[in-house]
Amino acid sequence: GLPHQVTIYEVGPRDGLQNESAVIPVEVKAELIDRLADAGHKVIEATSFVHPKWVPQLADADELLTRLHRRPGVRYPVLVPNLRGLDRALDLGVDEIAIFASATETFAAKNLNRSLESQFEMFEPVVARALDNGVRVRAYVSMCFGDPWEGPTPIAQVVAVGERLLGLGCYELSLGDTIGVGTPGHVTALIGAFRTPERLAVHFHDTYGQALSNTLAALRCGVTTIDASTGGIGGCPYAESATGNLATEDLVWMLRGLGIETGLDLGKLVSTSTWLAELLGRPSPSRVVQALSKG
Ligand code: HMG
Ligand code: MG
Repeated sequence: GLPHQVTIYEVGPRDGLQNESAVIPVEVKAELIDRLADAGHKVIEATSFVHPKWVPQLADADELLTRLHRRPGVRYPVLVPNLRGLDRALDLGVDEIAIFASATETFAAKNLNRSLESQFEMFEPVVARALDNGVRVRAYVSMCFGDPWEGPTPIAQVVAVGERLLGLGCYELSLGDTIGVGTPGHVTALIGAFRTPERLAVHFHDTYGQALSNTLAALRCGVTTIDASTGGIGGCPYAESATGNLATEDLVWMLRGLGIETGLDLGKLVSTSTWLAELLGRPSPSRVVQALSKG
């Protein structure tokens, strides 16, 4: 069966903007986040406390947090890789973070400058200090279906990394299809290999047009938290493609058709993505945004 209710974890301001070449002023980012909250979002990943040289698009993370118009009942998690990032976030009163591990050796080296094993030496103290400070921790695992260098990722390897992250005390594990190569059968097999599907979220990139089908497969496996980005922004830097994450609007359209409650105002989402597309200098790749903004 399908769930009655789904939590949409909005990643546009972080995963979307980190991969867009246009530089967006900090006050516009704050306005974007506020518009997303106004459309009904309850979880909005705001930015990243990573090394600013690695992700210059989000180098304004500290200033953005001081400008956030926090609304009651809305969570604003941020990405944090290490203790340096955690301390920056704690100084700004952050109460929810996300760490991001890799399922493959090559991506661990490229994204974290660590090996598959030594990434845990970086994350363990982060989770411990965060939990000590009453901060909730989500964990991502990237390249869950395949990566550009090693081909398909063995399911056992993803489960080993993922279960270890959950074991640290992370409340949720988001399975990332970073380059969008997954297909529904693979999704079902991967989720089925975990002991606790109710603690999983899915994070699909739509590079190969599979994100919605993959989402439906995940819903059928009992997953109720879906990551998506407004307007589908954020082309993937490792695969020449205009599409980023699964577009929030495409997801909401499908869920609405299935009678699944999201609490989101589709009209407000579409007008926010249309406004943002103008600022980014390219049309939203979301089919639903395109369809609903014509006329
Ligand atoms: P490193 O070079 O090994 O860092 O990078 P280090 O620990 O050796 O430190 C080097 C210098 O950086 C030091 O400065 C640190 O203080 C500074 P120095 O002493 O030389 O003057 N530094 C920092 N400064 C500010 N904030 C920090 C920080 N950390 C160190 N947090 C590191 C290791 C993890 C920092 C680096 O590799 C990094 O920043 N990586 C982030 C990459 C990234 O953001 N990728 C995108 C997000 S992941 C993603 O998008 C996937 C996801 O969407 C899911 C999916 O789709 O699969 C989540
Ligand atoms: Mg991503």
